Amino acid sequence: MCEIRPVEVNQRDLVDKVLARYPEEFTVFRELLQNADDAGAENFTIVFQASHRYASNGTKPDLSSVKVCKWLVRNDGAPFQDPDWGRLTKIAEGNPDERKIGAFGVGFFSVFSVTDKPIVKSNGKMVSIYYEGDKLYVKKEEIIRDSNNCTVIEMELKQTSTIPRIFELTRFLVTSMTFLARIQCITISLDDTELSRLTKTRNKGQSIVIPEHMVRRSPGDTMTVASVKLICWYLSRLSKSTQL
Ligand SMILES: Nc1ncnc2c1ncn2[C@@H]1O[C@H](COP(=O)(O)OP(=O)(O)OP(=O)(O)O)[C@@H](O)[C@H]1O
Ligand SMILES: [Mg+2]
Repeated sequence: MCEIRPVEVNQRDLVDKVLARYPEEFTVFRELLQNADDAGAENFTIVFQASHRYASNGTKPDLSSVKVCKWLVRNDGAPFQDPDWGRLTKIAEGNPDERKIGAFGVGFFSVFSVTDKPIVKSNGKMVSIYYEGDKLYVKKEEIIRDSNNCTVIEMELKQTSTIPRIFELTRFLVTSMTFLARIQCITISLDDTELSRLTKTRNKGQSIVIPEHMVRRSPGDTMTVASVKLICWYLSRLSKSTQL
């Protein structure tokens, strides 16, 4: 007698032990930044939502006592289309578009390192991903379109926590941003209070003379170097009189 049955997977363990386990503290922001950059976004906003709405009184706020219950990430890239919704909710579907940074189809699942029920709002649709037992489910609903047509990812935290160290986070974002093509500005806020802003600008580029003796053609003549330009990116950080 022979029995054939499919191999089973405990989705919760798969996500916890493999997909949402990253060595670095802020990996989730890097993954969401890369996805936003792939979607052509120029602006990326991180909002820490306090359990009791935070209002700055103008003086130097003490962030260490603020309890945060939700992280929100917003970008102004191209809104989700059907293939994007499909890839988002299929583990390891991958993206065949070689112009994109994303390739493996797992980066988004890093959100599960901080939340059990991520919500993505884009293009007049809202997708919630949530557990029932150890199985993940996806619910898709129509919603009122965001006035700026931005994509928003909401992460209700597994447990309320203090705000991450903004200086460390900003430093991490500087490194992540350096490798991105389109993102120009990242803002970090606590409710409506802006804590940090990173902007990236580039100079016009300076032409570099190619020495005569250098071979400009690739083997097989498939590529030729026509010109070389030195381009510098400038990153600047601006923050209010906040304890970072
Ligand atoms: N901000 C966004 N705007 C539009 N589509 C998005 C956005 N974020 C994610 N997606 C869609 O969700 C898919 C899945 O994202 P995910 O990060 O899991 O995988 P990936 O970016 O394709 O690959 P990788 O695992 O290498 O990051 C993307 O391929 C894209 O189609
Ligand atoms: Mg990705």
